[in-house]
Amino acid sequence: MAHRGSFVSNGTPFQFKLVLLGESAVGKSSLALRFVKGQFQDFQESTIGAAFLTKSMTLDGGQLVKFEIWDTAGQERYHSLTPMYYRGAPAAVVMYDITEQESFSKAKSWVLELKQQASPDIRIALAGNKLDLNATRSVSTEEGKAYADEQDLLFFETSAKSNANVNEMFAAIATEILRVNGGSGGTDDPDNLLLSTDSNRKGGCCR
Ligand code: GTP
Ligand code: MG
Repeated sequence: MAHRGSFVSNGTPFQFKLVLLGESAVGKSSLALRFVKGQFQDFQESTIGAAFLTKSMTLDGGQLVKFEIWDTAGQERYHSLTPMYYRGAPAAVVMYDITEQESFSKAKSWVLELKQQASPDIRIALAGNKLDLNATRSVSTEEGKAYADEQDLLFFETSAKSNANVNEMFAAIATEILRVNGGSGGTDDPDNLLLSTDSNRKGGCCR
């Protein structure tokens, strides 16, 4: 379906929807702001409803991708709205704050909800944010990683504040989604795809 992501081989980007989920104040909006605008605010306002942002990025292999990001509101009173945003999305980032064990529990319940109610082939990344506050962490890297492995999630520890692993995480998700939906191996230039099809045809042809 068109809104799940479309692969176009004429130089236009591979675009897909990505939803950010997680307890209030884990840093969803901050991560989005960092990725999209390269900015960070110490007093980021709590999101009302949801916010929509887009960002284009060129992957290592030269593929241009465009992220359509839904930054949802983590406050409990907005929970019932979230299916509108994750429905049909090929990618989700479930975030927690590494200094708040409670937010890690909440992240686990988001993963469960996605597995039960989102698209069956949704790719989920787990992001432990606020890595700059490593000295006061209460969720260990091992704990996050073990849960991610068990649930088959991509796993990152990020900091919107210090810009740690932000681009890397989005690039890894796009590569993964491309691999599954684009059939290009995630890093191939679409023009190369056309070329290789062409050369296969030449090689195999007998006329
Ligand atoms: P809701 O919109 O209510 O769901 O919250 P949110 O998840 O969007 O959190 P938000 O981005 O508003 O960040 C909450 C607070 O955490 C803000 O004061 C941010 O400045 C701070 N914050 C976000 N990311 C980081 C980070 O990586 N490190 C540190 N130290 N603070 C952060
Ligand atoms: Mg927010």
